[in-house]
Amino acid sequence: MNSPEIVTIDGPAGAGKSTLAREIAKRFGYLHLDSGAVYRAIGYACKLKGVNLDDEGEVLKVAGNLKVELKGSRVFLNGRDVTEAIRTPEGGILASKVARFREVREVVVNLLRKMAEGKKVVIDGRDAGSYIFPKADLKIYLTASPEERARRRFKELKEKGFNVSYEEVLKEVIERDESDRNRPFAPLTVPEGAVVIDTTGKSMEEVLEEVGKLIDP
Ligand code: CDP
Repeated sequence: MNSPEIVTIDGPAGAGKSTLAREIAKRFGYLHLDSGAVYRAIGYACKLKGVNLDDEGEVLKVAGNLKVELKGSRVFLNGRDVTEAIRTPEGGILASKVARFREVREVVVNLLRKMAEGKKVVIDGRDAGSYIFPKADLKIYLTASPEERARRRFKELKEKGFNVSYEEVLKEVIERDESDRNRPFAPLTVPEGAVVIDTTGKSMEEVLEEVGKLIDP
């Protein structure tokens, strides 16, 4: 059997989607598209410009006029490397706000589809298998308990030197999930045909092995 052309990985915050996608890209020679990074870059650009994040028209203007590039695991906004700047707790909240808007999502979805043209891609996000690539050959839905996801995120943020408490991270994770699941357009959902993997108590290596068997049986 041929390995899949497109692999989608969806799931809530802190489930380990980006790490898994990065490892799949490395091991199996896929291009990794981190769709959340694009929303984060737009949210960040809006903040720099002082845009009101409840004003869809304003956010759309920003989204339509900027250049976001994904190069390996680095993210560039109008040519500037913003990889670290967008991966903050605030960056997640800003992303989630701009991601509520249908037309903003359309800009992002078109960009991602274009980036994927003619390539073998692994893409992670919230709507990768349900909306961006509904015909993907392999769809994964990665999840874990909110406490475990918050613990992972807390550890990651601490290692990066952020001064946050576990309780704050848990609250942020739960609130963002709520908002991502309940928005009217392209909400976080288990895509049809997806393989659901609960990573609670599993190491990344175990998860990678499980997914590896689906990619290269
Ligand atoms: O790494 P984490 O799961 O915390 O966040 P992310 O993947 O960088 O996504 C940040 C936010 O962008 C999410 O909370 C969603 O609101 C939004 N997003 C989305 O709406 N659709 C996607 N395909 C990817 C992210």
